Amino acid sequence: MPAAARGKCWPCWPRRWAPQALPSASISPARTRVACEAAAVLQGNLAQLPLARASFDLVWSLNTINHLRDPLACLLSLAGLLKPRGRLVLGQSSFLPDMYFAWDARLERLTNEAVRAYYRERYGVSERELTGIRALVGLMRRTALQNVAAESILIERVAPLAAADEAYLLETIFRGTWGARLQGHLAEEDREELERLCDPAGAGYAPRRADFHFLQSLTFVSAQRPADG
Ligand SMILES: C[S@@+](CC[C@H](N)C(=O)[O-])C[C@H]1O[C@@H](n2cnc3c(N)ncnc32)[C@H](O)[C@@H]1O
Repeated sequence: MPAAARGKCWPCWPRRWAPQALPSASISPARTRVACEAAAVLQGNLAQLPLARASFDLVWSLNTINHLRDPLACLLSLAGLLKPRGRLVLGQSSFLPDMYFAWDARLERLTNEAVRAYYRERYGVSERELTGIRALVGLMRRTALQNVAAESILIERVAPLAAADEAYLLETIFRGTWGARLQGHLAEEDREELERLCDPAGAGYAPRRADFHFLQSLTFVSAQRPADG
């Protein structure tokens, strides 16, 4: 969902703009965090944005375009929201493979492959259909936007972790990402090892190992609407 800050409060937005299809869980954390009265939090479908064209200086979206069946259509719709000289910024993590088991490249590779196979099977998509989503630069170039630029940063977490980092990693990766769903995609002994690494109550919990070193890339691709476009 694009972050769109305007001089309106949430209760002012018409209810019809909140499609029932989207889980409210995806919007409630944002609504809770937005303390500024001038910022509105709007729930809607990226493919049918209920927002005025040419009305934003900045539109940004993180880790979301890759979830859509037609990312180009979405990009064209986001680009249409920009005022002249306005910027669109897309962020995407993990174009480079994340390192979460620094001590076991083999298990990490097999886990990545198993997760991908699980999701391909779950959503009925092929590897070919998914591979192009890395080409955010190419997608941007298919819009009328100019000044396409990209920049990546590395996010690094090293043991001993701060409590906030450990809580974040548990929530986003170590609880629920792998687990039983990888049955049939990983050899049983690898799956059991993975369960030990992901069990916060066990002695083998990965984020509490002395050799834990988590490395993740985050890429931003930006582009600008021409002054007269
Ligand atoms: C991986 S999450 C990223 C959430 C957030 N941007 C972040 O970085 O934490 C992907 C989000 O895309 C949302 N999403 C998927 N399809 C969407 C659509 N058609 N319109 C709006 N949001 C959509 C999901 O609800 C989910 O919250």
